[in-house]
Order: sequence, then C-alpha cells, then structure tokens
Amino acid sequence: MAEQQVLLTVNHLKKYYPVKGGWFGRVTDYVKAVDDVSFQIRRGETLGLVGESGCGKTTTARVILQLQRPTAGEVILNGNDLCQMQDDQLRSLRTQMQIIFQNPYTSLNPRMTIGAAIAEPIIVHGIAHGNAAHERVAELLTMVGLNRYFAGRFPSEFSGGQRQRIGIARALSVNPGFVICDEPISSLDVSIQAQIVNLLKRLQDQLGLTYLFISHDLRMVRYISNRIAVMYLGKIVEMGQSLDIWKKPLHPYTQALWAALPLPDPELEEKRQRIVLQGNVPSPINPPQGCRFNTRCPRVLDICREVEPPLRELEPDHQVACHLYDWPQ
Ligand SMILES: Nc1ncnc2c1ncn2[C@@H]1O[C@H](COP(=O)(O)OP(=O)(O)OP(=O)(O)O)[C@@H](O)[C@H]1O
Ligand SMILES: [Mg+2]
Repeated sequence: MAEQQVLLTVNHLKKYYPVKGGWFGRVTDYVKAVDDVSFQIRRGETLGLVGESGCGKTTTARVILQLQRPTAGEVILNGNDLCQMQDDQLRSLRTQMQIIFQNPYTSLNPRMTIGAAIAEPIIVHGIAHGNAAHERVAELLTMVGLNRYFAGRFPSEFSGGQRQRIGIARALSVNPGFVICDEPISSLDVSIQAQIVNLLKRLQDQLGLTYLFISHDLRMVRYISNRIAVMYLGKIVEMGQSLDIWKKPLHPYTQALWAALPLPDPELEEKRQRIVLQGNVPSPINPPQGCRFNTRCPRVLDICREVEPPLRELEPDHQVACHLYDWPQ
C-alpha cells in the first residue's frame, strides 16, 4: 500500500488483561483479547471488522484510540505513533479520531440537552465558543438529518435512531478524519438500521471520512466496507477486498460465517450445504495451541493443532492464515 494513501497503520497490536486468582489475588493468567493484530486503512476507505462476540473487536477499537493503552504494538495515525505519546500530547490528536458507540441510550447524558452534548467536544477542544459554537451545533444537527431547533431538547425525547444521529453529530463535531463505528446499528430496529448506515455513507463522501466499521452483521459490513478483516479469538484470520471475501472466502471460519447467513432465494437456500460450526468459542485465556480455530474447523489437519499459521498474502490484497494453503493448489 503506498505510504501517502495510508491513514492508519496498526502493527502487532496486543491487549492482554490480567486475570487475578488464588488467595493472594496474584495475576495468574491473561485474557488475550487482542493478540498480534496488524492492518492498514487507506484515506477515505472503510475497513470492516467482523467476528463473533468476544473475539476482540471493541478492545481493538479502544486500544487504537488509546482509551486503553495496548500491551504491545504500534498505532500510527497520520504519521504519529499514538502508543508512544503521553496523555497530554494525545489530547490534541483526539480531534482527529472519534468513536460512535453501539448503544445510543447509554452514550448520551440524560441530564444534558443534546445541543450541550454536541457542543461539549467543540468547546473542550477550543474549536468554537459562544454563538459560533451554537451555529456549529445547528449545522451538525442538519447534517445528520435532524431539525436544528431540537438543540434544547433532552435525549429522552428522541427515538433510538435519532439518538444515534445525535451520537454521530457529537463524534463529527470536532472534524475528525478517522471514525470508528462500533456496532453503530445493532441496537436499532431493522427498519432504522439502513437509514443510519446510509447516513454514515453519505457523511463519508461529503466529509472524506475514513472508517473502521465494526459489526457481526456480515451483510451490513459487506455493504459498507471496501475491505474486510475477519477476527477470531484475538487474531485476524482473513483480510481482503470486500467482494473477494464475499465471493471467495478462503478461511474455513469465514466460509462458515457466510454459510450461516440465509440466502434470499428459497430455491438456492434449499440446495445449499450448510457448514455448521461445532462447539463454542474457546476461552481467550487459554486459546488452542496451533491455529486457534482448530477445535471447530471442519477441515482441520494435524499440523493445525501444533503450528500457528501466519497471515499470508495468497492473492493480491487477499490474506489468509490457514494451513490449507501451505502448498500450491
Ligand atoms: N476490561 C476487561 N477486563 C478483562 N477482560 C476483558 C475486558 N474487556 C474485554 N475483555 C475480554 O476480552 C475479550 C474481547 O472482548 P471485546 O469486548 O473486545 O469483544 P467484541 O468482539 O467486541 O465482542 P462483542 O461482539 O460482544 O461486542 C472477551 O473475552 C472479553 O471478556
Ligand atoms: Mg464489542
């Protein structure tokens, strides 16, 4: 990937949470929530991050933004390695990166008018004050499809979809270039989901935003993303162009995720062979040796139980971590 096109580079990112046990509350183990994750995002593109619950998507988001410090690795945004920065240095960079949360009901302070909530980051970062701040709030409300005169109302007066629009306005208030959307639609009614996704797409075009779009809804991720990264137990197992991942998934885990989706055509659905995943997701405290997917993989080989497969580029811009591709096909 050409350097000037890259907005975000994540290198060997790890986040291990200590687990305390025994009588003396000593650290006995670690939850390996994110375990050696690397990827890049180009300016103006959307990278979708998908995987089952607990695979480490939110933790990846939090450590990228340095809301929690990673255990190891690099996060380079616009040429700055965020992991090396002190908190006060990071403060000025916070305007460049924002997050939209999953739950619009808990992410807004119920005692604050939505105008004050949207104005807060603008004032904290010294972007505007007084009338200029008011005007900016009105502009943001209109931009996300809400009435500018709603500024004096409280969150309880709005529906879930409207609250998510408010959350988006708040995130965009400081003019970030990079926005992480962490399951921004999963708590909303299906009828509202498409509206919010379309709003995010329109804002991306209008403002030239770069997104990391986190979701377990594969169809939605495919719709909004240029590229997709598939995560399993703290690791990326496959990454590539959206269409390639959709049409020709290489990793048995990605294949199983796709196969779990119902097909719109009932005749095709009838004929299709489903790959059903066996068992539960293993614990990230003691992940399986070798390939982490080996305990559930329908195509497991002996080597998979011993040697961890590296993420390798098998086709242009399509990487996979799987021993099935160790030999030329
Ligand atoms: N603060 C924490 N302390 C200890 N373990 C944590 C902490 N936060 C997350 N974890 C663990 O890290 C793993 C990854 O969690 P994370 O929330 O990143 O998953 P996720 O992919 O976002 O899941 P979901 O789809 O449910 O949102 C889980 O096993 C979780 O229990
Ligand atoms: Mg999450």
